[in-house]
Amino acid sequence: MGIKIVGAGMYLPEKVVANEDFEKIVDTSNEWIVKRTGIKKRHLSQGEYTFDMGLKAAREALKNANMDATEIDLIIVTTVTPDFYFPSMANVIQGRLGAKNAFGIDIACACAGFVYALDMAQRYIDSSDDIENVLIVSSENITKTVDYKDRSTCVLFGDGAGAVVVKKGPNKAYSYLGCDGEYADILYAHLYPSGNYFADEETNRKNKSIFPNETGRYMYMDGPAVYRLAVDFMVSSLEKACEKAGIKPADLDIIIPHQANVRIIETAIRKLSILKERVYVNIENTGNISSACIPVCLTELFKSGRLKENNRVGIVGFGAGMIYGAMVFSV
Ligand code: UT7
Repeated sequence: MGIKIVGAGMYLPEKVVANEDFEKIVDTSNEWIVKRTGIKKRHLSQGEYTFDMGLKAAREALKNANMDATEIDLIIVTTVTPDFYFPSMANVIQGRLGAKNAFGIDIACACAGFVYALDMAQRYIDSSDDIENVLIVSSENITKTVDYKDRSTCVLFGDGAGAVVVKKGPNKAYSYLGCDGEYADILYAHLYPSGNYFADEETNRKNKSIFPNETGRYMYMDGPAVYRLAVDFMVSSLEKACEKAGIKPADLDIIIPHQANVRIIETAIRKLSILKERVYVNIENTGNISSACIPVCLTELFKSGRLKENNRVGIVGFGAGMIYGAMVFSV
């Protein structure tokens, strides 16, 4: 027993911001951004809701799967930038899609979210008789956590959504997931400060500073520390997922890594002895869209016809937590 992706969809906001646009607001240059990250432009939401971007991607995925929303049994939404504390994004998307036979779950696994969701989808499909069709929606408004005065982070991120429909399939997928919370303080963005009418100022202040660097509602990132760990986690998790599948990373037909920095990807694939031509990279057009990166890449690959029946695909992600994971499956 295994899984098969039968449809994929994506949505990127209309507003495109080029590297040159950042030259006007922070001390940076197109040359620095391209050389150090591989990014040339990114799509930024203009106050669009996270659920709404996800909904657009989900509708396209259903259409490409030739399925009606009522056929979906489970919706898994991955996001670290939801619109609400509650209800869940999955519930809102379920309602708007009219997926009346589905239940929904949100997961917050940062940039590794899609890998975790695909792993969950297979586990649900394998272990239950009443779940056959799973819709995964990864939608991120990550730029709402970005400080556009901080040149070391603002140039890196974009917004968008990707979605896939997963069904029972003939080929088992193999995954390796992990996290190391000791590194939670190298990449984070606080929710609103906790507190209530009866809490005094001092209590509110303490609650704001559990991590060493106070950045208010904006993201904090120790870029070089994330970079080093990202390479190690990507290499080890893809190796371990492949080991479970009885293959080597070099045997994969297509590898879709999380799109955070082209240099991270290049270093990891060198260590894994993977041919560059087998690695899909779209970071120059999207920047880092957190958990939406991998399903957007998958959609582009399906659309371009580059993914062929029975191709072996490896996906590998990492993100704030630090969290990481890889999955190997056939299309
Ligand atoms: O989804 C997971 C989340 N994030 C990541 O995976 C990001 C991981 N980290 C990275 O991709 C890289 O560390 C960055 C792209 C963030 C930074 O690249 P780096 O090569 O590690 O540069 P650095 O942080 O070591 O900084 C080198 C220099 C510094 O200047 P000084 O101190 O040498 O004078 C920075 O202030 O580059 C400077 N710098 C910039 N210069 C121009 C940092 N950002 C910029 C910028 N434009 N946008």
